[in-house]
Amino acid sequence: MRVIVTKDYEDLGRVAANIIAAQVTLKPESVLGLATGSSPISTYKNLIKKYENGDLDFSRCYAANLDEYVGLTKDNDQSYAYFMYENLFKHVNIKMENTNIPDGTEPDAAKECARYDAVIKALGGVDLQLLGIGHNGHVGFNEPADCFAKGTNIINLTQSTIDANTRFFEKKEDVPTQAYTMGIKTIMSAKKILLVANGEGKAEIIYKMVAGEITPQVPASVLQLHNDVIVVVDEAAAAMLKEKAPEYIEG
Ligand code: GLP
Repeated sequence: MRVIVTKDYEDLGRVAANIIAAQVTLKPESVLGLATGSSPISTYKNLIKKYENGDLDFSRCYAANLDEYVGLTKDNDQSYAYFMYENLFKHVNIKMENTNIPDGTEPDAAKECARYDAVIKALGGVDLQLLGIGHNGHVGFNEPADCFAKGTNIINLTQSTIDANTRFFEKKEDVPTQAYTMGIKTIMSAKKILLVANGEGKAEIIYKMVAGEITPQVPASVLQLHNDVIVVVDEAAAAMLKEKAPEYIEG
């Protein structure tokens, strides 16, 4: 696991976008595993800039998103499908038919999970998986649990995740309580993983993820077992790691 510390969130976005751009340049037909949340927004902004400058071409890329809320339609402005369209897809030349995301409106969870696993399999797996991290160490929506989930699964969101996501919804009652998410095994099968995190609120979980025990109670800790993970964090998110286990930080 390589940990790169950037001076701030903007710089984080530049570094992470450079890594994704390198992937797409070296393999134009890359399958990009994409993430939502506030953490990857500066990364997406920088990817858009590169595309607009003519430095990046997504026309042969595929995208497979990590997760989606159960019950939200694609045109709901809080759905992850909407987020991806607004924050990346509509600004670049990726073909919408090459983008994939779990279908939050499918009520049959077993069917949807099997469908999404088949989609990822048909793509040949993920080349580069972008991840954020929840305060409790969740990746995608894989919440702390007794064991690591394998394929796509339906999750009952923890109260802390529901509370953290409440800021995006008008009313508390509107916050979905379930989500479909790629499983940990699928995430771990990505050839390369890029995790981004910023802000002091993430400092403790970044420390636990990088230097703590590997446990499904901190789902992101399993990334320690992957052989090609780059963690890009700003100074604030790196603070506890810097203080307690600086040997993990590059440079
Ligand atoms: C949600 C998403 C995760 C994301 C996390 C952190 O739960 N499902 O993919 O990593 O939020 O969000 P943020 O980046 O806004 O802190």
